[in-house]
Amino acid sequence: TAEITYLHPADPNGVAEAIALIAAGGIAALPTETVYGLAADAANGEAVARIYAAKGRPGFNPLIVHVADRAMAGRYALFDPLADRLASRFWPGPLTLVLPLMPDAPVSSLVTAGLPSIAIRIPAHPVMQAVIRGLGRGIAAPSANASGRLSPTRAAHVLESLNGRIPLILDAGPTSAGLESSIVAIANGQARLLRQGAIARETLEAELGTPLPVAADAEPVAAPGMLLNHYAPRLPIRLNARTATPHEFHIGFGPVPGDESLSSGGNLPEAAARLFDLLHKADASGRAAIAVAPVPSDGLGAAINDRLKRAAAGG
Ligand code: TXA
Ligand code: MG
Repeated sequence: TAEITYLHPADPNGVAEAIALIAAGGIAALPTETVYGLAADAANGEAVARIYAAKGRPGFNPLIVHVADRAMAGRYALFDPLADRLASRFWPGPLTLVLPLMPDAPVSSLVTAGLPSIAIRIPAHPVMQAVIRGLGRGIAAPSANASGRLSPTRAAHVLESLNGRIPLILDAGPTSAGLESSIVAIANGQARLLRQGAIARETLEAELGTPLPVAADAEPVAAPGMLLNHYAPRLPIRLNARTATPHEFHIGFGPVPGDESLSSGGNLPEAAARLFDLLHKADASGRAAIAVAPVPSDGLGAAINDRLKRAAAGG
């Protein structure tokens, strides 16, 4: 089946098919509320290896394990009170916690890349939830794109990037958040933000009641996937562009209209949800380059600017 890729709506048959495929050691692209994920049984090393092969991903880069509920999460990770507090406030949802790995966790060491920690989250999307419950254990899933490329917020983006390399995509329409999960590592009772994401840093800080330090790019591989050029469109990209040349696809925001706008009303959650979609569109536009209007850095703007900076570094 590995050569055939097809799309169909996420109906109950599609879910059953994905469960059967994953239980048998296969991989499938599934929707989450953040981006589409490329899913495999986290306990099956060969299945997880198929994810790495399909993405062309460096083997040292660990994956997020998706679980259905807090009880299932407890089989994989050790929760301290701080982790429990964040989990009960933000799960199910776009928060990934990096926590100490349980010694007997049912997980291939390929998932953790041999680290003593594990990245884990409970996704809010009903399709992903149904597949995890059907499988009965955790699903490893990175974003369903070729390594180093833009994350997919639509089934069509997955097809574009991985066509011929995966047997199944469940299409549930565009994802609601449009940005990957925020990643928070907790060690020795201290939280650090490893990746800006779909939950604004301010929102996490409000729950913690303390500032949440951001891990620096220079820090020795805190979240190994956060290489500076990790979110690359094919075209070169210019930031803070209030105007553009005819050779550029201009992505607007707020008062800057552009060819298309992230959010003409300057709404940051709307801009986050449209970001990867517009970058994909710009890539396919036939223009020579991409220009992006300034986006403010408060709230979700921090994660948006982080992705844009990485896109510009890699393009
Ligand atoms: O929204 C999301 O998080 C999506 C959906 C599919 O859930 N997934 C996603 O996965 O973005 P991925 O593999 O593209 O990004 C996972 C990030 C990588 O930067 C990886 O290095 C980091 O999580 N990570 C995984 N395990 C880790 C660990 N034990 N310690 C530190 N970072 C870890
Ligand atoms: Mg990714």
